[in-house]
Amino acid sequence: METSVPDSPLPAIAPVTGPQDWRGPHVATATRWRFQLPAGPVDELRRIVDKASAEGRDQDHFDFQGVEIPGLRDALAPAIQELASGTGMALVRGIKADFFDVEAHKIALLIVANQMGLVGPQEHRAKGISEVMDVSPPEGDRYYFHVGGPLPMHMDPVDVVGLLCLRKAKEGGTSRIVSSMAVHNEILQTRPDLLALLYRGFRHRRRQFRISGGSPVTDHYCPAFADIGGGEVICNFIPAPIRMAVDEGLMTLTRAEQEALDIIEAVSERDDFCLEMDLEPGDLQFLNNRITMHGRADYRDSGGPEERRLLLRTWLTMPGWRKYPAHLPRVDVELETAPA
Ligand SMILES: [Fe+2]
Repeated sequence: METSVPDSPLPAIAPVTGPQDWRGPHVATATRWRFQLPAGPVDELRRIVDKASAEGRDQDHFDFQGVEIPGLRDALAPAIQELASGTGMALVRGIKADFFDVEAHKIALLIVANQMGLVGPQEHRAKGISEVMDVSPPEGDRYYFHVGGPLPMHMDPVDVVGLLCLRKAKEGGTSRIVSSMAVHNEILQTRPDLLALLYRGFRHRRRQFRISGGSPVTDHYCPAFADIGGGEVICNFIPAPIRMAVDEGLMTLTRAEQEALDIIEAVSERDDFCLEMDLEPGDLQFLNNRITMHGRADYRDSGGPEERRLLLRTWLTMPGWRKYPAHLPRVDVELETAPA
């Protein structure tokens, strides 16, 4: 299937201004995205998780939505503010990697995440925590986050992704973050024609095709950038389903479309745009996927599974944030929607 640019003219595109337009080297030493949890709420969290652990509970047998820690909620409020209307990233410290075992840390992350937003799906769970690590050789279901190595820049199709670092790699594995609004502005300045194409977007390979059939690709374009109203421009760039559709011969790209893909990937990987965040064990990283993209540097693990790089991941829908239009496929716990 040959994709083509629609005939209708696209609206004029303006640069995005404000704190969400940042360059890595300029914000690397800023304190605005770093937060420290106070000891009181952390102690309360420890007591609750230790009790759950002593009762033999795991994430599937713990009512995290029934837990309220007002001090924790208050301490996280500025981080949510920074995610929503600042740089779109927050590094939260105060939890230690040796507080609990891995399963108990999942309960801790569920509690923290639930104080921030609505916990969404991970793997087969409707609300849960997944492990990001290299599980090779593969056992059973394997997700893309069960493979080591570098990750190209992308966003997760949900409001906020949260990671709790439990173990670092022996070497490498640095988290890379970029302001997708800065990428937007750079493309606007250098190749506005390609930015217009990115606003139109690409057809995606449909996740549901192998399960429930239907068309193998979306019948509509999924924008990589979009104005969702109220002056809010968001990035919705997910390269994998575009590449899969091409690799599997389901569609071809025009030269301009290939150039548009190339430029968004190239700018988002540039060192003068990226921020490198080296997560230490115990660090919590939250990213607003609407205005940032993230990736990961290559890394080398040491030893067996118990020593490998390990992060716990959660996806959050943020109540009160502007809803996406239906043609932007994504996970929304409130709307009960999923990627195409
Ligand atoms: Fe991701």
